[in-house]
Amino acid sequence: MPKSSNKTPKPSQNGQSPSIESILAEKRLFKPSKKFSEQARISSMAQYEKMYRASIKDPEKFFAKQAEELAWFKKWRKVVEWKAPFAKWFIGGKINAAYNCLDRHLSTPRKNKAAIIWEGENFEQRVLTYAQLHREVSRAANVLKSLGVKTGDRVAIYMGMTPELAIAVLACARIGATHSVIFGGFSAEAIRDRVNDAEAKLIITSDGAYRRGTIVDLKRNVDLALRTEAMMIDGKSQPYGGCPTIEKVLVVKRTGQDIDMFPGRDIWWHEAIKDASHDCPAAELDSEHPLYILYTSGTTGKPKGIVHTTAGYLLGTYLTTKYVFDIRDEDVYWCTADVGWVTGHSYILYGPLSNGATVVMYEGAPTYPAPDRFWDIIERHGVTVFYTAPTAIRAFIRAGNEHPNKHDMSSLRLLGSVGEPINPEAWMWYHTVIGKGKCPIVDTWWQTETGAIMISPIPGAIPTKPGSATLPFFGVEPEVVRKDGTPCKPNEGGYLVIKKPWPSMLRGIYKDPERFEKQYFSEYPGIYFTGDGARRDKNGYFWIMGRVDDVINVSGHRLGTMEVESALVGHEAVAEAAVVGRPDEIKGSALVAFVTLKQGWPPDETLKERLRGHVGSMIGPIAKPDDIRFTDALPKTRSGKIMRRLLRELASTGAVAGDTTTLEDFSVLEKLRAGEEE
Ligand code: PRX
Repeated sequence: MPKSSNKTPKPSQNGQSPSIESILAEKRLFKPSKKFSEQARISSMAQYEKMYRASIKDPEKFFAKQAEELAWFKKWRKVVEWKAPFAKWFIGGKINAAYNCLDRHLSTPRKNKAAIIWEGENFEQRVLTYAQLHREVSRAANVLKSLGVKTGDRVAIYMGMTPELAIAVLACARIGATHSVIFGGFSAEAIRDRVNDAEAKLIITSDGAYRRGTIVDLKRNVDLALRTEAMMIDGKSQPYGGCPTIEKVLVVKRTGQDIDMFPGRDIWWHEAIKDASHDCPAAELDSEHPLYILYTSGTTGKPKGIVHTTAGYLLGTYLTTKYVFDIRDEDVYWCTADVGWVTGHSYILYGPLSNGATVVMYEGAPTYPAPDRFWDIIERHGVTVFYTAPTAIRAFIRAGNEHPNKHDMSSLRLLGSVGEPINPEAWMWYHTVIGKGKCPIVDTWWQTETGAIMISPIPGAIPTKPGSATLPFFGVEPEVVRKDGTPCKPNEGGYLVIKKPWPSMLRGIYKDPERFEKQYFSEYPGIYFTGDGARRDKNGYFWIMGRVDDVINVSGHRLGTMEVESALVGHEAVAEAAVVGRPDEIKGSALVAFVTLKQGWPPDETLKERLRGHVGSMIGPIAKPDDIRFTDALPKTRSGKIMRRLLRELASTGAVAGDTTTLEDFSVLEKLRAGEEE
């Protein structure tokens, strides 16, 4: 049982109640078409089952064979070493992820094939072939070296979705600098926390980024994060530490807007790269060399730096791209995620590029300048494999079928979904309106921590059911268990765990092995606890029911309630805050904050807006509560714990059912209810 929560897994949290519709959906089975299966890498259930069985029976043998498809400088001695919770894969091997994404294609016909087809929000186009991308990455890697970045140093990257973002990431991988990409929607404070935790030496950013027709001031946010002068907080002058480990800021010119450049610290990318040599051999790194850190929300106020290492992660993303997306040389593959999230790391960069695929990368918003932008991109570029999130699908459903119907999307052959449970209605719409009934849908369940897809249909083999992520990928042994760790019966809701280590699993939380163990391996000793609730139907298919901890999935992005709460209580007006999720038609979950104010602050709309703005500046716009409710007090148990379950129910339905006997002050509940009715 997760200690952080006393919830039993109920499907209510993400608002994707599987109730009647999912039970009906379970009866709908979509078999891959004969045409699709015949051409697919894995073309029958029997073939999938055989490979899956082999991967579970002898993972070392299975993964050793698969790993031979990667390019190694030196072969490993031992496939895996597991001293729970610490795993090592391909011990003794020497490898480089950027080499596998670039160099190894140069001696093949892929050399002059498009690696990245980039489209700017303003419709600019850039195509980088594998040879060109290799050249640019090598030059950028030499720039990093010239700025004193060495193997093992951390480099923060805070950019919009331009080719330079991909180049920067791969340049780090090339020299063995551990990258930490910070999503461009995060605020200065969020940058500072992440940079300081990672002790990054360099930040790569751009002047600004185009988003929905406006410009996001990225460099300005970096300047704010790095500032060291004192600030007025609560009427007092407080010292502000900035980011003491940062030596240089490398700035890509994207928008051309006016920005401040601090001499000695800030360097223009285009100037630095102008004379850089394109000869930069890839560093021969240990299999377990840390490839990147990516911060993700957890159940405390502080985001966790999830660490992924080189060989196992690369193998996981390589294999899942190959088999789940069934990728082929002639595909035009488009994953709509931002590289600031793990989906972008694994399925815009490392997975597809290590497979030599052609990747579409789009800079801007899905609905800019019109609601058909995505469909327009699919038509113009002839996208064949399309991977997006349920929240986007639901927004498109609302926008109306006339937008996709305007476009010829007959190039599509496979569709994917990721980030949250996809409700059967959205699945059916995706299937019929976008896929015209002929494209299999791969609903891929995984996490920042897992590095790569864990549960998903293999499209030519596994029949799909709308709303189910179906069956595990090779080498993955998930199980749904009860509080006491015993396996659930078919259709009984429980906690999703992974019983054995897998190559792309996280290797830790940066600098915090205790939190790593406590967070993931203490509920069920030695077994990875995902934080998700799930059930398994009688065919063994997995149905993910959403988070069971204090993490909320808003538009497919993870937010810790504690993180938002600590931002709120950081405001001078706030005495106490509790943040919960409520089902939302588009976002999956929306954030509702219950806030008690300090004496003298007026509980009015202006203050609500200020608090929303404050959370936006402490974390980023994605974390702004959708709804703020002022209350005199929060319902607490006798031991002083906030009763989130009650608040969740109140936020979702306005009513509270269930057991309230531990509630300390019943009158609080009455007041909260009254506030709801106003
Ligand atoms: O709750 C699950 C949900 O997203 C969480 C992981 O979030 P993050 O680390 O940000 O990674 C998102 C992209 C992989 C999971 O714990 N989730 C992700 N994919 C699915 C999903 N829930 C249901 N179905 C999915 N396909």
